[in-house]
Amino acid sequence: MSTHIGAERGQIAERVLMPGDPLRAKWIAETFLTDATCYSTVRNMFGFTGTYRGVPVSVQGSGMGIPSISIYAHELINDYGAKTLVRVGSCGALADSLQLRDVIAAIGASTDSAINRQRFDGMIDYAPVADFGLLRGAVDAAAGRDIDVKVGQVLSADVFYTDRPDLPERLAGYGVLAVEMEAAALYTLAAKFDVRALALLTVSDHIVRGEALPAADRERSFSQMVEIALDTVTA
Ligand code: HPA
Repeated sequence: MSTHIGAERGQIAERVLMPGDPLRAKWIAETFLTDATCYSTVRNMFGFTGTYRGVPVSVQGSGMGIPSISIYAHELINDYGAKTLVRVGSCGALADSLQLRDVIAAIGASTDSAINRQRFDGMIDYAPVADFGLLRGAVDAAAGRDIDVKVGQVLSADVFYTDRPDLPERLAGYGVLAVEMEAAALYTLAAKFDVRALALLTVSDHIVRGEALPAADRERSFSQMVEIALDTVTA
């Protein structure tokens, strides 16, 4: 096993979906994959491998925030040979054009995290971006399902209960569609280790308008995004 994932090498597929919530990983595996088995229960951060349309796919919980997804993405890539990582998460919308349940494909991820300032000695504002092939694949897959995916950049925030709610709103004026907490790290690590990554996000709340998706609606909205993600990684 690796430090935080209790699997043997070979038990995790090259294609991995990464929801933040480990119970979402279980739900995705049980709902969408064939013959899914659980390969890790370490810290209850469940991981499963099964097949989708005959192609091996894993689903690994990432936890919330940049430190947590960084650990799991690092080990998936370096200890288990993952080559394609797609985050499937939720986000809080900033852009007025967005509605609850919309699906966003994050072309890039600004962040208030210091991970890349530290990495480049404070000299570079590194721009973490999605893999273009995956992004195009997701847009095509969404079109094939008649889903109008919104492509744009997001903010990967370090703090959920922020003292500076004005900052995300100001960023909206620079084209930032929504706030989540992981994509910038996933994109940076994918670039560092030369693998492919994409973040797909369902709008679960609208930060500016103060709207939130009722709990009962979340699952159905999440399904569309998971289907886009599975079509994309197995295309
Ligand atoms: N902030 C950060 N991440 C989120 C939010 C939010 O408001 N909503 C869903 N994920």
